Amino acid sequence: MDYKTRTKVSRILIDEAVPINSNVIILGWVRTVRSSKEVAFIEINDGSSMKNIQGVIQNPESFPILEQILTGASIRLEGTLVPSAGKGQKYEIAVSKLDLVGPADASYPLQKKRHTMEFLREIAHLRPRTNTFGAVNRIRSKLAYAVHTYFQERGFYYIHPPIISTSDAEGAGNLFRVSSLDFQNIPKKEGRVDWDADFFAGEAFLTVSGQLEAELLAAALGDVYTFGPTFRAENSNTSRHAAEFWMIEPEMAWAELDDNMDVAEDFLKYLFRYAVEKCTDEMEIFGQGIDKEVRGTLEGVIGAKFERLPYTEAIGILERSKEPFEYPVSWGLDLQSEHERFLTEKVFKKPVILYDYPTKIKAFYMRMNDDGKTVRAMDVLVPKVGEIIGGSQREERYEVLDRRMREMGIRNIENYEWYLDVRRYGTVPHAGFGLGFERALMYITGMANIRDVLPFPRVPRWAKF
Ligand code: 4AD
Repeated sequence: MDYKTRTKVSRILIDEAVPINSNVIILGWVRTVRSSKEVAFIEINDGSSMKNIQGVIQNPESFPILEQILTGASIRLEGTLVPSAGKGQKYEIAVSKLDLVGPADASYPLQKKRHTMEFLREIAHLRPRTNTFGAVNRIRSKLAYAVHTYFQERGFYYIHPPIISTSDAEGAGNLFRVSSLDFQNIPKKEGRVDWDADFFAGEAFLTVSGQLEAELLAAALGDVYTFGPTFRAENSNTSRHAAEFWMIEPEMAWAELDDNMDVAEDFLKYLFRYAVEKCTDEMEIFGQGIDKEVRGTLEGVIGAKFERLPYTEAIGILERSKEPFEYPVSWGLDLQSEHERFLTEKVFKKPVILYDYPTKIKAFYMRMNDDGKTVRAMDVLVPKVGEIIGGSQREERYEVLDRRMREMGIRNIENYEWYLDVRRYGTVPHAGFGLGFERALMYITGMANIRDVLPFPRVPRWAKF
């Protein structure tokens, strides 16, 4: 069978690049079949866009294979491209040849009705064939491209930090272990696990962030960024946390906190603008089926000047608000989603960049302020999703960083010599941030659950497929 000379449906319906009366071969999956004695219609989607093309068969009795073609089957269809007589599509195909490639029987779970998100998660292997998840996967690809375009056009180098790491970059202890030891027969030394006998002759983990390595490369290349998978064993079964997610981490040498905020704001707006302007088909689907206001929300952010607010002032606003928060507010509190949402949704009604957080609730690598109580941290908060970006100016002073790490009781401090070395040899002020790619996608698609913007989500008790 000839699969090589196929025409992608997007070439016909999106690009309108195929002349009328051309002979075309379409390969795809059947969405619906309607058949009568005189005529049959097959709607088929080939994944190249959300648009289905319709094949029209004028003499169904001469296509006996039709009886075996049900929703979900893969078929090859050959015919002439003609203007459509029906409503809702510009072109259709007058079918001259029809082949069944892979049958699907009547148990195919995606019949023509609305399915709940929960049901679709149970069939994550088939949900990409729905309109919504086709659009999610396509927009993921387009926005990944946008991420690279943004940084490449601005002279940042794309770097690849390791996925296996020996350090807990965030100091939060939510690590997945990497080991080749036999768990039924763990080698021990003086009653404890002998990590020296393990593959890397020490403890190793899946990375929680590529930042520490990005800092080293920024100290050589200037402006760099990472974009890769990140792993956190937080057992927080929320709609915004995944155990495996993708993070984008730019790191800039010769940059301070203000520069960091400028890039974060500009980058986020660029991604949102890219979605609105370049992903119109996908945005239409999200606007119809997921969140009617999603486009307006994005346009609001694109047009807004982000509020920049010190943490201490935010605490003052929250304390004076008299809002009945579940977690009571006082200086030093690690803000919860309810506080973040109150600030963005009720007080400012736009994105807010909070900065200068208390030292105690932030990671060891953030630059200490002169007050000795706060660090040059920043979180970008957006309505509905809450924290979307976390970042900081880094501590570039050797002695201050060394003291801070000791004070904070960083485990295996001797393993961080390489990190301290960049402060010892030619240190420079530098800053960076991390954007959770899925948090951005949630905002763009209007999806309320992170499980629905990842093709194969990994969350507590779920890594089946
Ligand atoms: O604030 P976080 O923990 O910052 C860092 O990891 C820094 N090393 C970044 C840097 O300065 N280079 O995480 C950054 C972002 C969060 O704002 C959030 O968008 C996302 O990563 N994120 C998660 N997304 C999905 N699931 C999780 N479990 C996430 N944890 C963080």
